[in-house]
Amino acid sequence: GYDVSKLLKQTGAVTFDPGFMNTAATTSAITYIDGDAGILRYRGYPIEQLAQHSSFLEVSYLLIYGNLPSPTELEAFDQRIRHHTLLHEELKGFFSGFPRDAHPMPVLSSAVSALSTFYQDSLDPFNAEQVEVSTYRLLAKMPVIAAYALKKSIGQPMLYPDNSHNLVENFLRLSFGLPAEQYEVDPVIAKALDLLLILHADHEQNCSTSTVRLVGSSNANLFASVSAGINALFGPAHGGANEAVLKMLRQIQADGTKPEDYMEKVKNKEDGVRLMGFGHRVYKNYDPRAKIVKATAHEILTKLGGNDELLEIAMRLEEKALNDDYFIQRKLYPNVDFYTGLIYKAMGFPEKMFTVLFAIGRLPGWIAQWREMISDPNTKIGRPRQLYIGEPERDYPVR
Ligand code: ACO
Repeated sequence: GYDVSKLLKQTGAVTFDPGFMNTAATTSAITYIDGDAGILRYRGYPIEQLAQHSSFLEVSYLLIYGNLPSPTELEAFDQRIRHHTLLHEELKGFFSGFPRDAHPMPVLSSAVSALSTFYQDSLDPFNAEQVEVSTYRLLAKMPVIAAYALKKSIGQPMLYPDNSHNLVENFLRLSFGLPAEQYEVDPVIAKALDLLLILHADHEQNCSTSTVRLVGSSNANLFASVSAGINALFGPAHGGANEAVLKMLRQIQADGTKPEDYMEKVKNKEDGVRLMGFGHRVYKNYDPRAKIVKATAHEILTKLGGNDELLEIAMRLEEKALNDDYFIQRKLYPNVDFYTGLIYKAMGFPEKMFTVLFAIGRLPGWIAQWREMISDPNTKIGRPRQLYIGEPERDYPVR
C-alpha cells in the first residue's frame, strides 16, 4: 500500500532491498558459491573433494586460517582443542535453570553467551592472542555444551570429556555414553557425522553468519556474536529446517497422506505449508551438499538401520518436485537439510538436537567470518537504513 520510489526520493540516496536479496554487505575470501551452477568451495577447495578426503577438524582449520594445515599444524590444532574441552564446574550448574523439556538451541545460545562471563580474559576482539584462545575455547566447549543440553533433556548424568578422543568422537561419547558403561564409538556414525559437519561448516553470508558479523561489527566479543548466530539459526526457514523436515515426513507417514496429495497442498499454499528442506536463496540448482548427503543417506541408513519408510517418502516427494512445474519454475531443489534429519535420527539423536548439530557444524564458519570481519580495516558498524511509512509530524494533544 505504499509507493517505494516515492519513499526512496523522500529518504535520499539509499537502496531498498528487503532480505538483502541483492546487497553485498562485505568482501570475503572464505567461501565461494555459484548458485546457478550449484558450486560450493571453501577457500577454493570444492566441497566434493573436502567431503571425500578431509575431516571436520582439518576443514575448521582451513576456514579459520585460510590454508590446509601441515600434519604438524593439524596435530597442534587438535591438541589445543582437546586441552580446552572441560567446562567450568559452575557453568554445569547453569543447565539446571532451564525446564526439563527446553529446546536445546536456546540452552546452547544461552550457555555460549555465558562463556563471556566465565572467560573474561579473552574478550578483546583486537587482541590476537585473546581471539585465538576464544577460538579454541569455542571449538572445544560448544560440542560439550550441546551434549550436556541433550543429557539434561533426557535426565541422564553428564560425563566429563575424555581427551583421548577427537572432537567428533568426544561429542558422540558425551551424547550417548553412560557412566556405568564403556562407550565404544561406532566408526560408521563418527565418519557420517564428520561428513555432515564438513558440509555445514560455512555458507558465506547466510542469515546466521550475517548475524554474527552484524553483532561483531559493534566490536562485541566472539562468544556474544556466536551466541547471536545460534539464535538466528534456530528459525525453521534456516537451520531449524532439518527438524521441520523430519516432522513433516513423520506427519505424512502418520496421516497416511500420499506424497502427491501433500504436494498439492504445498502448491496451493494451503495454511502456508511449504515443502521443508526445499528451496534456497542462493541455489537455483541442486544444492551440491544435498547431492552428497543423498548419495550417502542410503548407504548410512542401511548400515545404521534407519527408517526406510521415511526415506521412501522423502525420495518420492523429491521425485515429484523435480518433475513439477511449480518447483521447476521457481527453481526449488532439495537443500542440504532435506535428507540430514533422517541420518541424524538413525544415529540416535532426538529431533530437537538436529539444529544443534547444524550449529556445531557451522561454528568454524562463524568464527572464520567474525575474524575476517574484525581484521578488515574496511569494517564499519552494521547499520541498515529504512524507508519510513509511519505518521507524518503531528502535535501532541495538550489536555
Ligand atoms: N515449498 C514450496 N514453495 C516454496 C518453497 C518451498 N520449500 N520455497 C520457496 N517457495 C516458493 C515461494 O512460495 C515463492 O512462491 P511465489 O513466487 O509463488 O510467491 C517462491 O518459491 C520464492 O520463495 P521465497 O520465499 O521468496 O524465496 P526466498 O529466497 O526468500 O526463501 C527459503 C528461501 C527461506 C529457503 C525458502 O525456500 C523456504 O522457506 N524453504 C523451506 C525451508 C527450508 O528448507 N529452509 C532451509 C534453507 S537452507 C539452510 O538454511 C540450510
